[in-house]
Parts: sequence; C-alpha cells; structure tokens
Amino acid sequence: MDCNKRPENMQRITTPELANAFIDEQVKAIKKQVGDKKVLLALSGGVDSSVVAALLIKAIGKQLVCVHVNHGLMRKGESEQVIEIFQKGLDANLIYIDATERYLEKLKGVSEPEAKRKIIGAEFIRIFEEEARKLSGIEFLAQGTIYPDIIESDGVKAHHNVGGLPEDLQFELVEPVKLLYKDEVREVGYALGLPKSMVARQPFPGPGLGVRCLGEIERDRLEALRESDAILREEFDLAGLTDKVWQFFTVVPNFRSTGVRDGKRVFDLPVIIRAVNTVDAMSATVPEIDWAVLKKVTDRILSEVKGVCRVLYDLSPKAPATIEWE
Ligand code: XMP
Repeated sequence: MDCNKRPENMQRITTPELANAFIDEQVKAIKKQVGDKKVLLALSGGVDSSVVAALLIKAIGKQLVCVHVNHGLMRKGESEQVIEIFQKGLDANLIYIDATERYLEKLKGVSEPEAKRKIIGAEFIRIFEEEARKLSGIEFLAQGTIYPDIIESDGVKAHHNVGGLPEDLQFELVEPVKLLYKDEVREVGYALGLPKSMVARQPFPGPGLGVRCLGEIERDRLEALRESDAILREEFDLAGLTDKVWQFFTVVPNFRSTGVRDGKRVFDLPVIIRAVNTVDAMSATVPEIDWAVLKKVTDRILSEVKGVCRVLYDLSPKAPATIEWE
C-alpha cells in the first residue's frame, strides 16, 4: 500500500471525537516508530508544524526537540506566541534562535523578489543544519506535511525547506498529519488544546514579511510594515472580520511620497492594505470593508506608525493581481 495515499474509506475528521480518536491512534504510532529516540522539528508557529509539535509532545514529551528560527520577518508577537504556548504552556524542549541580524545582513542590497525568497529559504536550511549538528542522538525529523502538499508537490513541503539538508544529516521522517486536509489538521489542533489564534491562523508565506517589504528590505520600512500589520489585525479582529476575510495584511512599497507634518513637507512611506477572499488562493476577490473600519485603521497607522504619511486600500482582484505584492 502506498503510505502517501489517503485510503478512499478514510473518514473525514470533522468533530472533536474523531479528532481525539485520530490523536490516540497517532500517539501510539509515534511511540512505536520513535521508541526512546529523539525527534527534531522546525517549528515555525504555522498551523501544521504547531499541530505536529503538540501531537509529538503528547506522544514523546521531551524527546521532541523543536527549533524555532525567528528570521526577523515574523509578524508582531509571533515568535513570542510560539515561546508562550510551547515552552511555557506545553513545557516543550524548544530551541529559540533569533536570526534577525543574520537575515537582514544577508538580504542587504537584494531587491529582486525571487532572490529574496531564495536567500530566506537557503539561510533557514543553514541555520537548521547548524542546530541539528550541535545536537546529538537525533534520528528522526518531524514535518508538518499535509495531504495537499503530497498531492501538489512530491511530498516535500517547500516552505519547510528541510528537503535541502545535506546527505550526512539524513533522518527518518515522522509525518503524523500527512494524510489530513487543512480543516482536519485544525480540528486536531483544537482537540490538542491549541488556541484559536494559532489553529485558525490565516496563511502566512514562508518568507514572511520579506515579500511584503517590497524591494530591498530596510529596517525602517520593515518596522513600519510590522507595526501597521499589527494595527490592521487588531482592528479587523475588533470589527469581527478575522473569520470573515480569508487573508489580510499590509504592504510597504519601496518608494516614498510627499506629505506634510507640522507645516513642513516630508517624504514618507505609503502603507497598502491588502484583504482578499478566496477558496483556494488561485483566484481572489476584494471584500467591501466598512468605510469606518478602513478609516480607523488608516487613522491609527498614520498616528502610531513612524514615517508613514499615506494609507491605501488595494482594490485589485486576483487575476490579474496576485494576492501578495511580490
Ligand atoms: P499569490 O501572491 O501567488 O499568493 O496570489 C497565493 C497564496 O500563497 C501565499 N504565498 C506564499 N506562501 N511562500 C509561501 O509559503 C511564498 O513564497 C508565497 N508567496 C505567496 C500567499 O500569501 C497567498 O496565501
């Protein structure tokens, strides 16, 4: 039997009871596969790797070593949430690496979008490899591969970037959710007690804010991006839009615009609000957000985020526009 193929009679996990049954079954399977050996996991804080981490912690506790790499391109509070939930809440064996300076140094002077993506991905492999070499006795690598990853690619989750580890660092894979669809992974996440803010999280690209700080990543624009994104999320949440809009974020372009502050002309940053609804991200529409919400977000960004003098709402559907700006 092809173990990467979902059996036709496999029941869809749609209830907490079914999720609990799946968890019990996987805990047994993981214990059997791993024994008393150690397992390494790149924990990004995304839904899939978080659910795999919680599942493995339930099965093997501290035999799981989670590595969370903060590439400096995370949204505001994201790494802190990973530490809070996994280290403080679940007592996980978690290695936190703040690689912000290393990434920003590598990305200096790079403005081409695909080159940026490549550097971010390659650096992740390097850091993960360095950590793996420091640890001894690791025989397994856990991955948050889910069924659409297997169907759409060759089973290697591109943004997890672990397909690129060198020959001498070959591990046996542990992929407990590889036959599940996203909604099932979320159901399992809730049953494991993970919070909604993590389980129902909207998609966030592997290269993170790196593809939303357009062109060369500069610290002031990256900070304006992170702060404006946090305000947008806060206000959409307050307005009850978090469950209604599929993905929303801000973008900071690599040009400036004239403004006026304290009677003087300034040359400051624009911030673009992007919000979309979609089923599969192949095409997308732009929701008609209440004017009052857009205005409140705008007012807050203009008054709270340093160096921003303009806020725009992107009205472009996909196609012809993509969801991300680069
Ligand atoms: P586009 O911009 O192609 O985005 O309409 C479709 C969906 O994919 C996400 N996206 C990415 N995810 N690495 C990722 O892991 C990437 O490089 C990347 N680029 C786009 C995007 O956020 C949207 O949900």
